[in-house]
Amino acid sequence: MAAFGIREATSSDARLLTDMLVEAANWNRLAARPRVEVLADRGVLRYISGWKRPGDHGVVALDPEGIPIGACWYRLFPGNDPGYGFVSPGVPELTLGVNPMWRARGAGRELLQALVRDAAAAGHARLSLSVDRGNHAQGLYRSEGFVVVSSGDDSDTMVKALH
Ligand SMILES: CC(C)(COP(=O)(O)OP(=O)(O)OC[C@H]1O[C@@H](n2cnc3c(N)ncnc32)[C@H](O)[C@@H]1OP(=O)(O)O)[C@@H](O)C(=O)NCCC(=O)NCCS
Repeated sequence: MAAFGIREATSSDARLLTDMLVEAANWNRLAARPRVEVLADRGVLRYISGWKRPGDHGVVALDPEGIPIGACWYRLFPGNDPGYGFVSPGVPELTLGVNPMWRARGAGRELLQALVRDAAAAGHARLSLSVDRGNHAQGLYRSEGFVVVSSGDDSDTMVKALH
């Protein structure tokens, strides 16, 4: 299993994170939408718009040449404008994506573990997310201690307790 470099995401990483957000929205290749359509969807765009604003935090995975190949980040949403995986105003919601060419080599898990560590260090008690049923990412989240707390028609909200 390759080891990847991990660094904090900066405001300059907005393009990378946007790319990874599109990957997450288009996890199901059979139902993939054009990038422009994905980003016209406010429900998706709110995970990255205005990056990096107060409360945002993320990590970037780097290939052996130092080129970014994936990202995981969290953002807080207010109760009157909740994300898909919203559980409470103080619980940040995470997004994860890895460049298709670099998948299944451990980068996703490394990113997730790094973000979980950072969230705990920042004093957050929980992290949440929304994942479509059928997305193999759910297996990754379960194996890292996330549990399903509520379910919609096609997706589950998962939470990990950090302390
Ligand atoms: C989900 C994603 C981030 C995983 O990244 P990755 O670098 O491929 O993942 P890893 O190599 O670290 O694998 C972690 C775990 O994911 C699961 N997994 C990864 N690829 C898988 C596949 N092709 N089939 C089934 N499970 C898979 C396994 O549980 C794996 O653990 P294991 O290797 O111990 O069996 C990546 O597939 C991706 O970017 N997908 C599109 C975006 C997305 O769906 N994001 C999540 C939205 S909620």
